This record gives sequence, structure tokens and C-alpha cells, in this order.
Amino acid sequence: KKPVGAPPKELARPVTKVGVVGAGLMASQFALLFVRRLQVPVVITDLDQARVDKGLAFIRDELDGLREKGRISQDEANRLRALVSGTTDLADFADCDWVIEAVFEELGVKQQVFAEVERHVGPETVLATNTSSLSVDRIAERLEHPERVVGFHFFNPVAVMPLLEVVNATRTDETTLATAMATAAKLKKNAVITADAPGFVVNRILAKLLGEAMHAVDTGTPFETVDRAIRPLGLPMTAFELLELVGLKVGAHVLDTHHAAFPDRFFESANLHRLADHGRIFERDAKGKVKGV
Ligand code: CAA
Repeated sequence: KKPVGAPPKELARPVTKVGVVGAGLMASQFALLFVRRLQVPVVITDLDQARVDKGLAFIRDELDGLREKGRISQDEANRLRALVSGTTDLADFADCDWVIEAVFEELGVKQQVFAEVERHVGPETVLATNTSSLSVDRIAERLEHPERVVGFHFFNPVAVMPLLEVVNATRTDETTLATAMATAAKLKKNAVITADAPGFVVNRILAKLLGEAMHAVDTGTPFETVDRAIRPLGLPMTAFELLELVGLKVGAHVLDTHHAAFPDRFFESANLHRLADHGRIFERDAKGKVKGV
């Protein structure tokens, strides 16, 4: 096994422009974090202009919110806003030295995204993946320069959760790892370096909690009962609230990946797949009170 140690800090390369592939829930949250903390140009891409515009609108709204709360000045909001741009043309990534993806959690899709990005960027550009449970080795395997691929796994809500998992894949080189650690420090996240194992560290543990909660439902206990039973554990959110936060499709995918890797230790959930199409577990009444689905 490759040792999981911290690389020499002096190997880190500067990050002067960031490319973000995907403009969805996670990607737009960390695009905002990159621009705030690194104060460098951030360019966002997605499958079509409508998705890009949605990501840009999220960032603009969040910057407005930070200004209204007095966390940033109007000048800073304007400056940060001007640093963020959108594109549907990967040629605009040419001078990025850091590209991070948060596209759909499917190996083939992520492999294809990085293969396309690699055609447009220099050989030293770091390619970071926010995958939550896929193998970073596999994501990198078809690339010309797999040594510049690293896992960079944020937690939701990105602005609040202090942890970041930096995944040291088999072929990730020390320069890439050092750049990832330096970038995490600039983002003010507590980074831990993990091995490239299914679910890394945190999702392996979360998948256990979420999987067992769903399994209780799948075997006949109603959602509300399981939810009420978990509350006294004092977690900031119950298993089902957490599933709604991360997105039911992502949650179902995390459970499936763990089940595929360790069939005797993790459950898949038929109910979670059913609800993933519906988009949420709990219905809320007009007063925001939860009514079970
Ligand atoms: N975006 C930005 N800021 C947010 C936010 C969001 N979505 N949600 C909450 N916040 C901020 C609030 O603005 C508030 O900040 P201030 O104190 O500075 O005003 C702070 O967080 C606390 O919020 P609240 O008082 O409203 O609520 P809370 O105390 O209940 O905390 C929570 C909310 C931080 C989300 C908390 O419930 C929590 O920690 N939940 C667990 C989250 C978790 O486990 N995430 C990991 C999910 S797994 C994952 O993401 C990985 C994966 O691959 C699937």
C-alpha cells in the first residue's frame, strides 16, 4: 500500500486560475469558496448554458447574502463577482492550473470529463475530483498524466463543514498532493489525506449509518419512527435529513458503491431508489412541519 503521509510543503504549485466542471449543488458551493478564499479567476462549465447560468446565479445570490450580513463589503462582492465567469467551451480552461469536477457520480462520466479537460490544459494542471465514493485511481486510469489527479472531497454544506478529504490515489504524485494540501489550507479547511478506498473515511462511516436507517425502513419500520428513534443520538441531523441534504440520488449512489465493494457489510435500499426519483423523503406542511411521505 502507498503510504498516506503529508508531502513536503515546498513542492506545492501556485493556483492562479480555477476551472470548475459542473454547476450543481456541490460545484457551485465550492466555486464560491475558491473565489472567496483564493481570490483568483474561477470559470464554471456544465452541459449547457442554462445549468451554467443557474450556478452563476447561486454564487451571485450567496455573495449578496454575505454582503447583506456584513461579512463582505459591496466592493468585495463586486470584485468577487467579476472574478467568476461561466462557459460551455472547455477551451476557456486553457490557462487553469487547477480544475475540479463535481459532475454526476458515474465512473464513465468522470473519466470522460477528465479526458476532455486534459486535451485543453497544460500537463501540470491539477485535476481534482470531488467524488464521494468512486475510485480516484479508476477516474485517472485513462489519462495521459494520471499523476496530477487527486481526490478533493468536500462536505455539504461546503461553507460550514470544516473537513476536506484529500485522496492520495496510487499514482498521485507528491507535487499534486502538496498543491492539494496548500489549496485546502487556503480554503481554510481541515484537510486529511486518505487512501483511495471505497467511501474514503467519512462516507464509509456515514454509509453505514444511512444504510442501516434505510434498511430499518425497507424491513417495515415507518420513516417517522426511525427518524424519531435516531434523534436522541444528538447528531446534528438524522439519517434522513442528511440524505435530503446531500441529495437522495447521491445518497443512493453512495450506498450502492459501498454495497458493491462490501456486499456483506452494506445495504442497498429499494426505498431510497424509489424516493430518489421523488426528490425528498419528508413532505412539509405550510408551517414547515414534517409529514412523512
Ligand atoms: N450554506 C451556507 N451556510 C449554511 C448552510 C448552507 N447550506 N446551512 C447552514 N449554514 C450556516 C448558517 O448560516 C449558520 O451560520 P452563522 O452561524 O454564521 O449564521 C450556521 O451554518 C449554522 O446554521 P443553523 O444555525 O441554521 O443550523 P444548525 O446549527 O442546525 O447547523 C448544519 C446546520 C451545519 C447543516 C448542521 O445541521 C450539520 O452540521 N449537519 C450535518 C451536516 C453533515 O453531516 N454534512 C456531511 C454530509 S455528507 C457529504 O456531504 C459528503 C458526501 O459525499 C455525500
